[in-house]
Amino acid sequence: MPLHLASYIKRMKKILWGFIIASFFIVTYKTIKGNRDHIHSLINSFKSKEDFIFDFFNQTENADTKVFSLDNFTLFLDDNPDKLEEYDLPLCPQKPPGLKGNLRRQDYLDLTPPPFEKISIDNPRLSIGGRYTPKHCRPRYKLAIIIPLRGRIRQLQVLLAHMHPIWQGQQLDYTVYVMWQSGEHLFNKAKIMNAGFLEASKDRKYDCYVFHDVDMLLENDECLYWCPTEDNPRSLSVYVDKFFYRYKSYTLKCRPSNIRRTQTVPYFGGVVMVTKSQFMSANGFSNIYWGWGGEDNDLYLRLWNQGYQLHNPYGKSCSYHMIRHKKEKSNAENKGHFALMTHAITRMKYEGLNTLRYKRLSTKREPLFTNITIDVGQPIKQYVDFMMYNVTDDELCHRSMPWDFQHSN
Ligand code: UDP
Ligand code: BGC
Ligand code: MN
Repeated sequence: MPLHLASYIKRMKKILWGFIIASFFIVTYKTIKGNRDHIHSLINSFKSKEDFIFDFFNQTENADTKVFSLDNFTLFLDDNPDKLEEYDLPLCPQKPPGLKGNLRRQDYLDLTPPPFEKISIDNPRLSIGGRYTPKHCRPRYKLAIIIPLRGRIRQLQVLLAHMHPIWQGQQLDYTVYVMWQSGEHLFNKAKIMNAGFLEASKDRKYDCYVFHDVDMLLENDECLYWCPTEDNPRSLSVYVDKFFYRYKSYTLKCRPSNIRRTQTVPYFGGVVMVTKSQFMSANGFSNIYWGWGGEDNDLYLRLWNQGYQLHNPYGKSCSYHMIRHKKEKSNAENKGHFALMTHAITRMKYEGLNTLRYKRLSTKREPLFTNITIDVGQPIKQYVDFMMYNVTDDELCHRSMPWDFQHSN
């Protein structure tokens, strides 16, 4: 071959390689940027610049400068691909093998809480932080399981001893996050769930999120914690022994004007599942339900307003035993929760994930769960007066809000 032809081919090869490498980088950059832009546009669609509600809700009394705010959230929603080698595995089967169906009640009813060490020994395939991924197949779903907690350690032991084997049997790739509210102020489950969503998203890229009360034990392992992204949100625990396994739904005493009086809403507490985009499109939970009541209905209304129906693919096989417990004083009923619900939909874009403030105090990777302690502050005095006030039936749905008191003072 003449010399100049050989060097010509060599040069062409170099150019071709250059072209291939450059295209690779351009495609990767565009994909990452596309995802980021999408998330930015979702978030920006919630931003309300001068809304007084926003000002009010940023005034939790012990907020300080190191609190979380959504402005830095976008940074940690970037794609964070997991190890590539897992993609060589075959996809896990449509029906996980070896499920048991109905679980024997004596296995979990009145179980003496096993120590965490024993639960770890019984679940040797878990990785630190309460994380699991199937070994021999590629999991279909990556799931963050978020448990709100303060006290109730014995219930956590019972829950984990019962549920870890089930979640592994369902061939999920999952991590358990225990979101512990620090201090002794009023409990705010919605706010710690919002924080759990953000902290989990910071950790890894999940397909979906389960908000899981610590006292709910699944009674049939064929109720899969799976979440095809095209599905609607799920309320898993609509059949509960405490409520005689009757489908739990009710009409709302107080409701936004676009909800009919006769419209029933399903129970949306206990165990519920959402995808990332569903939760973000609802702007997360409302942060303003201190104490007990209403925050779950409020999230349902937000999702409903975004056009989501609920989805219950496994029907009655998703039934639960609720561990018996008393209501904590710091989670007393919020007597204003009905009135807050009246405005759930008008408030949703002004208040939620986009106004969340909290301070993360620690993240500890325990063998059975990732333990995140956060300070969510406490409500101002006007709010406590509002939630303790004994309402009459006439005032139930339409009351002056704490921020109205503040403005008139
Ligand atoms: N919770 C907690 N400590 C409290 C209050 C509530 O850990 O002091 C958590 C726990 O996960 C519980 C959930 O919040 O399951 C909901 O509270 P609760 O069970 O009292 O409400 P219910 O759904 O039974 O009305
Ligand atoms: C409350 C909800 C609660 C439901 C079931 C409703 O009245 O607003 O927060 O989950 O009752 O107990
Ligand atoms: Mn409970």
